Amino acid sequence: MSPTRTSDVLVVGGGIIGLVTAWRAAQRGLSTVVVDPDPGGGAARVAAGMLAAVTELHYGEETLLGLNLASARRYPAFAAELTEFTGHDLGYRACGTLAVALDADDRAHLRELHALQERSGLRSQWLSGRECRRLEPMLAPGVRGGLRVDDDHQIDPRRLAAALVTACERAGVTLHRAWAERLVVAGDRATGVVTADGTDLAAGRTVLAAGSLSGRLAGVPADVLPPVRPVKGQVVRLTMPERHGPFLNRTVRAVVRGSHVYLVPRENGELVIGATSEELGWDTTVTAGGVYELLRDAHELVPGITELPLTETRAGLRPCSPDNAPLLGPTELDGLLLATGHHRNGVLLTPVTGDAMAEALTGGTLPDVARPFTPRRFGAAVLTEQSA
Ligand code: GLY
Repeated sequence: MSPTRTSDVLVVGGGIIGLVTAWRAAQRGLSTVVVDPDPGGGAARVAAGMLAAVTELHYGEETLLGLNLASARRYPAFAAELTEFTGHDLGYRACGTLAVALDADDRAHLRELHALQERSGLRSQWLSGRECRRLEPMLAPGVRGGLRVDDDHQIDPRRLAAALVTACERAGVTLHRAWAERLVVAGDRATGVVTADGTDLAAGRTVLAAGSLSGRLAGVPADVLPPVRPVKGQVVRLTMPERHGPFLNRTVRAVVRGSHVYLVPRENGELVIGATSEELGWDTTVTAGGVYELLRDAHELVPGITELPLTETRAGLRPCSPDNAPLLGPTELDGLLLATGHHRNGVLLTPVTGDAMAEALTGGTLPDVARPFTPRRFGAAVLTEQSA
C-alpha cells in the first residue's frame, strides 16, 4: 500500500503563488504540505519582477487594478516581514518606472494610457523627451516623451521564490518533492492528490496553484478545471558595468511597433530585458527571433545595451485566464480551491494572494478585495469552450 500523509491543506504547485499560500496558511496554524518536484521554480525563475500596477493598466481591467493596487500597497510590509523571517534580501527596490515613446504612434498610445491612469486616480506625470533623458541619460536621443510613474517598483523574483521556500520550511510546511499526478475526489469532495512517486497526500483542502499547468491535473472534474492557458514570455539578462553612476536608475519601458519591451535594472548589476508574449502552447524554446526582437527594441530605447555582456536567455509560461485576472478561492467542488491565472501579475499579486487564500482557508470566504476573482465567475459554458 502507498504511504499516506494527511494535512489540513495541500498546495499543488511550489511557485511563488503556491508558496505564499502555504506560508500564510501555516502561519494561521494549518498543517500544510506543498507538492512540487522543484519548489521555488516556475515562472518566477524567468520573470523580471516589475510591480507595475500603474504602467500595466489596460482598458477594461479596472477591477483587476483594484487587486493590483491592494497588493502593491502591501509590498513594503510584506517584503520586510519576509526578509525578517528568513534573512533573505529580496532585491526590493522602490525605484519607479519611466514609460517612454519613440514615435508619434507610441506617444499617442502613452497619452491614452496617461488619461486612463488619471481617470483611475493614479499618479503619473507627463515628461518631454528632454526631461526623460535628464532622468535617464542612457535613453536614445529620439525619445519623444514619457510618463514618470514613481509608484511602480521592482523585486527580484528568484530571490522572492528562494525566500518563500525558506519561509515555508521555517513555518513548518512540508515540501513534498514530486509531481502531483491526480486529484482524488471521494463522493463530491476533493480529498487530496496521488503523486507520481506513489504517495497519497490526503488533505482537508487542496489548493491548485500550479501556474499554467493548473488546467492539466488529472482527476479534476471538467466543470471546475481552471480555464488557464500558457502564454510564453522570452527574457534576456545582461550585466551592467560597475562605474560612476548607474546605467539606468529605474525601470524603463515602451511599446515598440506594438510589442511591450522593458528594461529592469537591479542593484546587483543585472539588467533584465523582457518580454515576448506568444500563444504557442507549452513551447519554452528560446528563439533567435525572440531574442533579436527584444534586443532590437531595447536598443532603440537604450542604444548602450549592445556594449553589455549577455548573460542569460530564458523563456517561461504565464498562466492566463479568459479575462486576464486570477482565479482565487473556493470552487464548486468542496475541498478544492484555486490560486492560479495570474498572467502578467504573479509577482505583483503575491502578497494579496497569500492573504486572500489564508482567509479563504480559515474563514471559508474570500476577503472583499479578492471576491471578484472567484473561479465561479466562469460558467460551465466558458469552461467547456476552453477545454474543447
Ligand atoms: N509583467 C510583465 C510580463 O508579464 O511580461
